[in-house]
Amino acid sequence: MTASSMSGQLQGPPSADTIARVVAAAGWAPSVHNTQPWWFAAEGNALSLHADPSRQLLVADPSGREMLISCGAALFTARLALRSLGLIPQTEVLPERSDPLLVARLRWPERADPAEYELRLSGQVLQRRTHRGGFGPSPLPPGLLPVLHIGAHRDGARLHVLADDASRFLLAGTVQAAEHTLRLDSLRVRELAGWVSAPGSGRADGVPPTSYPARPTRTFPDFPGRDFARGLGWGLPPTSADAGARHVGAACLLSTAGDSPADWVAAGQALQRILLTSAGCGVAAALHTQPLELSWARELIRTELCGGSYPQLVLRLGTVIQVEASVRRPPGSILCHGDGGSDD
Ligand SMILES: Cc1cc2nc3c(=O)[nH]c(=O)nc-3n(C[C@H](O)[C@H](O)[C@H](O)COP(=O)(O)O)c2cc1C
Repeated sequence: MTASSMSGQLQGPPSADTIARVVAAAGWAPSVHNTQPWWFAAEGNALSLHADPSRQLLVADPSGREMLISCGAALFTARLALRSLGLIPQTEVLPERSDPLLVARLRWPERADPAEYELRLSGQVLQRRTHRGGFGPSPLPPGLLPVLHIGAHRDGARLHVLADDASRFLLAGTVQAAEHTLRLDSLRVRELAGWVSAPGSGRADGVPPTSYPARPTRTFPDFPGRDFARGLGWGLPPTSADAGARHVGAACLLSTAGDSPADWVAAGQALQRILLTSAGCGVAAALHTQPLELSWARELIRTELCGGSYPQLVLRLGTVIQVEASVRRPPGSILCHGDGGSDD
């Protein structure tokens, strides 16, 4: 089909196939501890995305900030899936004051061929995985960071790349202190344990042992990961590639000018654009949001490293051979139809 034959108005309600494909793609968005705190409703010619507070981390994330960042990542993925099908999404973010859990409403009354970069990003939705550990010595592809910077700006966020040692060491020190603090807090430890699955578990959410190393590699400066295994020996066995993967990569912060639910959704959209754009260039990301769950550490990062804007995510970008695998709930279980029924 040519570009001109693909553009124009759509007639009638969206097909069940379109909705199924969009929801299936969106379900593969990243989310804090793989909580997948979302569900979708197909109503007439709209698809709405809702936050699911039963999946919120009430101890680590009482404001729902990380829950809405996760939903923002799902929203970006749904919009991208529509574009890959040649549909032009119209998006209303947080459209109803009376329903703060209604994250977005999507319609797609018109169509136009997807751009080449949209297809490339969409091809990464199922491939992309969060990395945990060090990176190899290869540098990032030239030009990637400026592209990520522009993309984040488009979504209403700002990407800060920490180019000097002083900033990198300060951020690493804050992650270390925060991880230490979290490990001493029994309520937080118990909450995290509830979202980590044991080897062989058939669970379709939470962090499986196929997604983190049994013996994490240390980088310099060190950015410790979360203690998913809690001394139980779970996780991926070391590979021969691990010895060379000890580099920090590019340490980055994603921030927003404000700190409202709309900013959190924007940060989630920007995050998924960054992750998919990077994955399309063979670049993986490691996330370290531990300090952003502690008010003193978040404030330190805000004032010292983000120029007063609000830090929403801490990430490192680098090249590495990835072996991580993750899980997701089946699309039918996160989609409700206007009549209230789910696809199950
Ligand atoms: C808001 C948010 C915060 C996250 N924080 C962390 C983190 O601190 N440490 C980590 O290892 N992964 C973190 N992640 C990544 C999730 O654990 C990951 O997306 C989820 O387990 C699904 O795995 P996948 O990204 O490989 O598909 C975060 C993701 C989001 C969206």
